[in-house]
Amino acid sequence: MKKTLLTLFLCGVGMFCLCSCGEVSGNTSQKVQVGVAYYNQTDTFVRELIDCFKNELETYKTEDLEVTAMVREAAGLEKTQNEQVKELIDAGCNVLCVNLVDRADPSEIIDTAREHDIPLIFFNREPVTEDMMQWEKIYYVGAIARQSGELQGEMAAEVIKNGGVDRNGDGKIQYVILEGEADHQDAIIRTENVVNTLNKEGINLEKLSYQIANWNRAQAENRMKQMIRQYNDEVELVLSNNDDMAAGAVDAYDELNYTEDNRPVFFGVDGTSVGLQAVKDGDFAGTVYNDKEGQASVMAELSVALATGGSLDAITFENERYVYLPYLKVTADNVDEFLNRK
Ligand code: BGC
Ligand code: CA
Repeated sequence: MKKTLLTLFLCGVGMFCLCSCGEVSGNTSQKVQVGVAYYNQTDTFVRELIDCFKNELETYKTEDLEVTAMVREAAGLEKTQNEQVKELIDAGCNVLCVNLVDRADPSEIIDTAREHDIPLIFFNREPVTEDMMQWEKIYYVGAIARQSGELQGEMAAEVIKNGGVDRNGDGKIQYVILEGEADHQDAIIRTENVVNTLNKEGINLEKLSYQIANWNRAQAENRMKQMIRQYNDEVELVLSNNDDMAAGAVDAYDELNYTEDNRPVFFGVDGTSVGLQAVKDGDFAGTVYNDKEGQASVMAELSVALATGGSLDAITFENERYVYLPYLKVTADNVDEFLNRK
């Protein structure tokens, strides 16, 4: 009896020590509750990226570490997103991953996070530097926008040099560009760099039109139909800021019953399921892989470290709080490698 009591007493003391030790070291939490807010569920790439992110978070779960994610989409409304961020914090999230509706206006979200001292990871839609500097617990995970334009340009130059693209044989490539949202870093930078790269590669270009289709397949199909009406079969090259819009352009040619012989060549960016399949089927000449697995993996590592007060030493930052993943070229030659990624 005495022995049992003693054991019980010792256990109690042990428990007490464990608990109070945990408290003393302070910011080590055993619960990672990630609040994810993203701009619009209509966006294919962001949806695929968030699926990857949820999978990555799963890998951190252990008996001692509880990891959960709460995801909210804002249907393209900034006001909705501001509210959702508050709700996520009220629900107990201890780290936030935010894909901004308006990348130029994150102040309210930053203020809310700072008030509650919840670290903030922006992803895919990059705030301007001044906003990133508003608080020291703000991070950004994304990709090297400039590189996506360059790689798309290099792939297009190679295909053009192989012949067959200049269908009217005038020595110039008549091209159109389908652009993402007007104020999105990836849209502006991709357009600029793909054209510069083609010029550098010595390709003689003739711009027919640039059309904004907001990353959206249906909008791109409409824009492309208008351009086909205007230019008939003059278009030789379609450069699209993403795969969904390139797929929309292909849809337009399909609907108007254009044969292989009088279609342009199409290039996208992202390597979404649709994009990779289009490369596989020969509908796109190429795409540029937006490394969602890489981005998701850094977001998960960073979320767990920030929520548990763990070390950030294993993460390579640029300018202290930015992580940019590289892009990769995808053509018929290597598309299977990407289709097999999981
Ligand atoms: C992707 C687009 C996506 C956009 C959303 C870009 O990086 O390439 O497909 O629509 O991000 O912010
Ligand atoms: Ca031509």
